[in-house]
Amino acid sequence: MKKTNRLRNIWYGLSVKQRFFLRRLYYFPIDFFDKVLSRRHKYVPSRGMIYTGSSIGSKEYIKQGLFQLNLLKEEIDLLPNDKILDIGSGVGRTAIALTSYLNSDGSYDGFDVVEQGVNWCNKGIGKDFSNFKFKYVPLFNDLYNTSKLKATEFEFPYANNSFDKVFSISLFTHMQLDEIQHYFSEIARVVKPEGLCFSTFFLYDSDDEDDIAKREHFSFPYKREGYRLMNGNVKSGNIAIHKDVLRGMLKKANLECLSITDGFWKSKMFDGTKKEFQDIVIFKRLN
Ligand SMILES: C[S@@+](CC[C@H](N)C(=O)[O-])C[C@H]1O[C@@H](n2cnc3c(N)ncnc32)[C@H](O)[C@@H]1O
Repeated sequence: MKKTNRLRNIWYGLSVKQRFFLRRLYYFPIDFFDKVLSRRHKYVPSRGMIYTGSSIGSKEYIKQGLFQLNLLKEEIDLLPNDKILDIGSGVGRTAIALTSYLNSDGSYDGFDVVEQGVNWCNKGIGKDFSNFKFKYVPLFNDLYNTSKLKATEFEFPYANNSFDKVFSISLFTHMQLDEIQHYFSEIARVVKPEGLCFSTFFLYDSDDEDDIAKREHFSFPYKREGYRLMNGNVKSGNIAIHKDVLRGMLKKANLECLSITDGFWKSKMFDGTKKEFQDIVIFKRLN
């Protein structure tokens, strides 16, 4: 087994609390210097708090958020006066960029299962922008939250037809099929008819399944019915879904799949012609 896969398995072997604690400890020295030298943007969390991907400094974090915003503009025509929902809002990576894009007619709502991330966003962005709201929802996810409440039974805390656009970035790569199916139904309820949605996934089809199962780096060796897992124990660690299964799930929720754009996660090396690491799926509510 390659070293990166071994390290990932060790990391997944830790409890949720241990993972949060170790990340903070590891980045403590550089976070300390960032603070002393005032190198951190006020809305960007310390590296030890960025549990949502690679822990990076302010400049890079803001750049990533702007990149996400551009994708949303290009792919679902995100407008400054849109009312939008960000599912799995994390520590505010996309929200920071949106603060300088949305106008006062537009609004942002985000929710997430990690309380410290939501608190961070509410203390900074939420305090300065009255049209930005972040909610903590204590749902079980074996990578992020040990609560007992099930995502399959969670009703999004918004009225029907509340949003012009809905997006989720790197959320459905960390949820189970029945949870995703339920979230699709909730999206179909809260987005306006014809409202465009943007989500990222790891997707495969019968041609590339063998490769993602067996390759050395970033592989999904555990086969299940219609999907594959990266780790057999931490099911939400990373999940890859068969494209046909995903299309069927969207249809079942009265959502129409408009496009699937492959990311470069399946490529053998970095592929500059692809927009994003993960696969981008654009869909809309029917009727
Ligand atoms: C990889 S992070 C991405 C965060 C953010 N979208 C970004 O791009 O920075 C995945 C996020 O999904 C959240 N999450 C996991 N399960 C969830 C659920 N059932 N409902 C809402 N958020 C969830 C996690 O807590 C985490 O913040």
